[in-house]
Amino acid sequence: MDSIIVNGGNKLYGNIIVSGAKNAALPIMAASLLTCDKVILQNVPRLVDIETMKELLNNHGTFSRWIGENKLEICSENITSKIAPYDIVKKMRASIWVLGPLLTRFGYAEISMPGGCAIGARMVDQHIEVMKALGAKISMQKGYIIAKSEGRLRGAHFNFAKISVGATINGILAATLSDGQTMLSNCASEPEIVDLCNMLNKMGAKISGIGTQKLTIEGCKELHGTTHTLIGDRIEAGTYLCAVGLVGGEITVSGINYNIIENTVLQLAKTGMSFKVNDDNFSIIAKANTIKSVDMQTEVYPGFATDLQAQYMTLMTLGNNTSVVAENIFENRFMHVPELCRMGANISIDGHTAIIRGVNELNGAEVMASDLRASVSLIIAGLAAKTQTKVRRVYHLDRGYENLEKKLQNCGADVHRIHGDSV
Ligand code: UD1
Repeated sequence: MDSIIVNGGNKLYGNIIVSGAKNAALPIMAASLLTCDKVILQNVPRLVDIETMKELLNNHGTFSRWIGENKLEICSENITSKIAPYDIVKKMRASIWVLGPLLTRFGYAEISMPGGCAIGARMVDQHIEVMKALGAKISMQKGYIIAKSEGRLRGAHFNFAKISVGATINGILAATLSDGQTMLSNCASEPEIVDLCNMLNKMGAKISGIGTQKLTIEGCKELHGTTHTLIGDRIEAGTYLCAVGLVGGEITVSGINYNIIENTVLQLAKTGMSFKVNDDNFSIIAKANTIKSVDMQTEVYPGFATDLQAQYMTLMTLGNNTSVVAENIFENRFMHVPELCRMGANISIDGHTAIIRGVNELNGAEVMASDLRASVSLIIAGLAAKTQTKVRRVYHLDRGYENLEKKLQNCGADVHRIHGDSV
């Protein structure tokens, strides 16, 4: 397994271009199952999760290939299997997004239950309820969700009992080819869902209310191919902003529409960082300052993203006072805390809140990555630490950060990877 060595102490100066959003790419790749035509996706990040989704689609009979560094061609004309097997689903929960497209196009899908994961139980009941509302018959057999419909799914009104990114996506995908009108309420409205809806409309879907919690979808008989460029990754952008806030320096982050990271920027500005948005709205200059301790809680969009909680908490470790971070989306998303404490942070946990007492410095240590965002928080902690940090099990990072070491090195960080290190 690979490890990353970080020799901390260098401030960050330079430019970082963020990659396309993984959390937009995955549902959009699943959406290609809705048409026989070719779909071309641009700005697709080269990540392990993207390869896993390719593997899953290929398993269904889809043909997909890279036709440029970040350009992917996908064609789902000859679907041969409607089964998403455990071996692939267990690697990545986003696999469940093939449920909606397969069911609505073919009237049948068999998807392995994703199960829990490191950050919590992560239920799928809302994915199932929305399919049932659209007329599907669902049963569970041997750990698989078996979904069937007689003829086409039927448009319906459905209110999600809990706001869920994943279930909203599955509901939208299934409704596009349903018979008649679907109204979905209490939907998640994340920018990645907006990107998916815009792409589906380019394929001929009729979705309105995009970006709100209430979506109306007029079902179509069929969808056609399209070319789509993915939005930038707001979590990646936010990660680098937290990094410069913690380590010091000044960086320009580009490739991301300011509007979708404004909530992150406003929170970071409260901690003392200063920002300047360039006229094109697609790049932002971030400057570090003395770190003020400021409370934060994770919420559904447009609230502060759970995917940036670990990075923000890392920034708070060097805050001038005490701050409280509340994690409201997942029940078990503090695995980075013991590792940060091993690096000298002073954090205590009380239920779903963490109390962070700012310390003067962090020390390098050998630490273990436990999930994607926890891994990157340890890297940025290492950048601020006085001595060397070794982050083990960084395969999590490769699920979500394209060229992380290179992007940081370009800004002056002393960071490199050891391939095939011991566990
Ligand atoms: C969540 C985040 C998303 C992030 C992703 C990866 C939110 C709202 N969602 O999306 O921003 O990118 O994790 O870290 O911030 N739930 C149910 N029943 C369901 C589906 C979900 O009870 O059928 C619960 C989950 O257990 C969780 C909450 O609802 O507590 C949010 O779930 P959901 O948004 O679906 O999670 P992800 O799609 O994984």
